[in-house]
Amino acid sequence: MNEPYEVPERVRAGSPNSITSANDWRREYQRSADDPDGFWLEQTRKLVRWQDAPTAGLSGDYHGVKAGPFSWFGDGRLNVTVTCLDQHLAARADKTALLWEGDEPGDVRRLSYRELHAEVGRCANVLRSLGVRRGERVIIYMGMVPEAAVAMLACARIGAVHSVVFGGFSAEALRDRVRDCGAGVVITQDEGLRGGRSIPLKATTDEALDGEHGVEKVLVLRRTGKDVGWVQGRDVWWHDAMADAGPECAPEIVDAEHPLFILYTSGSTGRPKGLLHTCGGYLTYAAYTHRTVFDLREDDVYACVADVGWITGHSYIVYGPLANGATSFMFESTPVYPDAGRYWDMVQRHRFTIFYTAPTAIRALAAQGDDFVTRYDRSSVRVLGTVGEPINPAAWEWYHRVVGEGRCTIVDTWWQTETGGICISPIAPATAPKPGSATLPMPGIFPQLIDPDTGREVRGPGQGHLCLTQPWPGQARTVFGDHDRFVATYFSTYEGRYFTGDGCRRDADGYYWITGRVDDVINVSGHRMGTAEFESALVADEAVGEAAVVGFPHDIKGTGVWAYVVLQAGETWSEAMQQRLQRQVRTSIGAHARVDVLQPVPGLPKTRSGKVMRRILRKVAEGQPEALGDTSTLADPSVVEAIVAGAAVLKRC
Ligand code: WT7
Repeated sequence: MNEPYEVPERVRAGSPNSITSANDWRREYQRSADDPDGFWLEQTRKLVRWQDAPTAGLSGDYHGVKAGPFSWFGDGRLNVTVTCLDQHLAARADKTALLWEGDEPGDVRRLSYRELHAEVGRCANVLRSLGVRRGERVIIYMGMVPEAAVAMLACARIGAVHSVVFGGFSAEALRDRVRDCGAGVVITQDEGLRGGRSIPLKATTDEALDGEHGVEKVLVLRRTGKDVGWVQGRDVWWHDAMADAGPECAPEIVDAEHPLFILYTSGSTGRPKGLLHTCGGYLTYAAYTHRTVFDLREDDVYACVADVGWITGHSYIVYGPLANGATSFMFESTPVYPDAGRYWDMVQRHRFTIFYTAPTAIRALAAQGDDFVTRYDRSSVRVLGTVGEPINPAAWEWYHRVVGEGRCTIVDTWWQTETGGICISPIAPATAPKPGSATLPMPGIFPQLIDPDTGREVRGPGQGHLCLTQPWPGQARTVFGDHDRFVATYFSTYEGRYFTGDGCRRDADGYYWITGRVDDVINVSGHRMGTAEFESALVADEAVGEAAVVGFPHDIKGTGVWAYVVLQAGETWSEAMQQRLQRQVRTSIGAHARVDVLQPVPGLPKTRSGKVMRRILRKVAEGQPEALGDTSTLADPSVVEAIVAGAAVLKRC
């Protein structure tokens, strides 16, 4: 398992990019360490079309972050859409920028760079006519339609700040985000379409905005034609507004550190945080990593099947690929609609050369058998990527052997909403991968493993909490509206370092192996959720006194959700109550959130000072009640016996 795979010759041959061998990586990495400013200024001048090119690199550091965000390229001025769109009109106007496939196989749309430029211009003019000004926030609550990307870029065109909310989120979750960022406009669609089912996006938007006063306009794309509720004076049809708008919209030139977007993500505690990414650094990093990791070439057909509601869609469907002039695929459906062959059917029809998905999809598809894969021609593919959670070596091997027929290399890309782009990953032509390892840091990324017990750095091979020691251009600058929370969450566990929340091992070759979250964040099918969000949903039910939620290993989802629930006196556990609690979770988080195991317990294991001992709950959920460790500080040890006995019954049925 520790032997690296060789990178196939056809992956290495003919690369136009700067890192095509292990030596190249070493040289470029060293350069980024010796002269980070020089390194990144050189990259950004190559990759980004600045109005005023920057002369400054990094200003500030992790020690000073308390006083305010660090910055990159501080004296540069740009509009990111000039890099993503306008610059390509000279040489690539007719190249397909967005290749879209809808829910039904073969329902395909192509937007060339020329067309995308015009659509974005129109939409930018529409947003202006709806009153959106530079710096103001716009919520995008849509499915995977090309217009979602158009809307994002249109915001960027006028210097507005988008916040995309994944279409699976509930009305409550949407309302929280609208309020938190103070959006004045929401862009949505009548319905989403996924796996043959419709998703009532407009109805959910209406529910979220009911009684709210901040949102003045709702722009509604017609996708399915379903009748939807209409608020006169507030709601505007996308097609009506676009028909009245011209395609030319001069780009609003902003400072490098002007906000580009806010993206909400779950943490250990409290409500989701709105991570803020800014224009110059983010775009530079997304473009650099996209080009380098996947070894992008001019005629690639690049497919990332994530959703634009997550950071992967922002960086590696929209901003990175478009900055690089790539053909970027957008997918509305699911990997199993109409059957488990959908991805490979699309590989054959569209001749994807790079394919990027999540371990949870790989595991689910591997479980369906090889026939769904092998009946399609995958010979076009050169690079296979994965992201979102640790990939187990068996799933990696299947991806490599069955999907890639051993001809492709695999890039297991580790990164986070906070990091803006890929931080630890193989570089397709250069890094010999090992199944299950994210391998080596990107240039500009300096990992450190910290022993949580001593707070000291682990040198050489070993294991610890993964920290990064220096800012890079793509890193989030703050939590929108709450810089103290940004500092407290990421920079106070280990002074002077960014703490990722992940555990990690480093082997003798210096390869990194992410072991998963070490905080109360759980990664269910690549969807990041906080245990606190589940707990607050559960205790919102009047029958529930207390709840504690932990993750446990799950064959397909990676992590499953286990909820321990203490009922109020006089309440009894029933099938109906379980359904009610599941509904409550759905209402407060969204359709993608589900508890896998609901266990009624007489009480939670607490210390005498009243702190819930989550370690014990995790061990029980993991099926290791014999490994509970020291329980001598428990206030009432009998609670644990009852929990273990109850869990054993649940496991059996
Ligand atoms: C968390 C971040 C990055 C885009 C999608 C997720 C986990 C992500 C990997 C990987 C092991 C991974 C980490 C990280 N994660 N990629 N290749 N190997 N773990 O972004 O929702 O912000 O989640 O996903 O635990 O902290 P996110």
